[in-house]
Amino acid sequence: MLIAPSLLSCDFSKFGEEIERMDKAGADYMHLDVMDGHFVPNLTFGAPVIKFVRPFTDKVFDVHLMISEPLKYIDDFCDAGADLITFHIESDSDPVETIEKIKARKVKAGVVLKPKTPAEAVFEYLDLVDMVLVMTVEPGFGGQSFMADMLPKIKAIREEIDRRGLDVLIEADGGIGAQNIALCREAGVDVAVAGTAVFKAENPKQAIEELKAL
Ligand code: DX5
Ligand code: ZN
Repeated sequence: MLIAPSLLSCDFSKFGEEIERMDKAGADYMHLDVMDGHFVPNLTFGAPVIKFVRPFTDKVFDVHLMISEPLKYIDDFCDAGADLITFHIESDSDPVETIEKIKARKVKAGVVLKPKTPAEAVFEYLDLVDMVLVMTVEPGFGGQSFMADMLPKIKAIREEIDRRGLDVLIEADGGIGAQNIALCREAGVDVAVAGTAVFKAENPKQAIEELKAL
């Protein structure tokens, strides 16, 4: 299991150092939650901020766009140094066009599903993407409870990916910690996002090691 700490829970007065700290703690990806106050009821940061913190690590910048009209901003996030961009299938941009735009920039592309969106909604894009991100909370805030009823959805997507013999990663995001990461693994998750579980831990390195071991 790869671990992607969500920087949403970091101390933003030292964003760069927080990324360095996660790098040293053994994070595989840096999960960067971009919110626009429109697609979700919260605001975070955009491409200019990501560009400033890009030099603090060589680890994968996993940019989770919770924004309306993601297609408009793909070039900005690619220029800022994203390695992987995921956008919501429920947003108003054409999914195929958005995936193609990301891939044309040699950046990995993924689609995200909110809890109420069924697994089948991403099936038509599975041959085009590098990742499917399944939300295990309603997007917008860190620190919410894991929705165990998302596990069958993860399994259904995993089965479809395997049935087609595709090389697509599944990421899960929201409320993941020691108490449920094994269930995620069993359901077929490859990358687990963890905000609270890593940042609220006394020793983030130990927390990441523990999550990987489980
Ligand atoms: C929620 C974000 C998540 C969140 C995860 O909208 O996409 O990445 O910050 O934080 P925890 O692990 O605290 O749920
Ligand atoms: Zn996220």
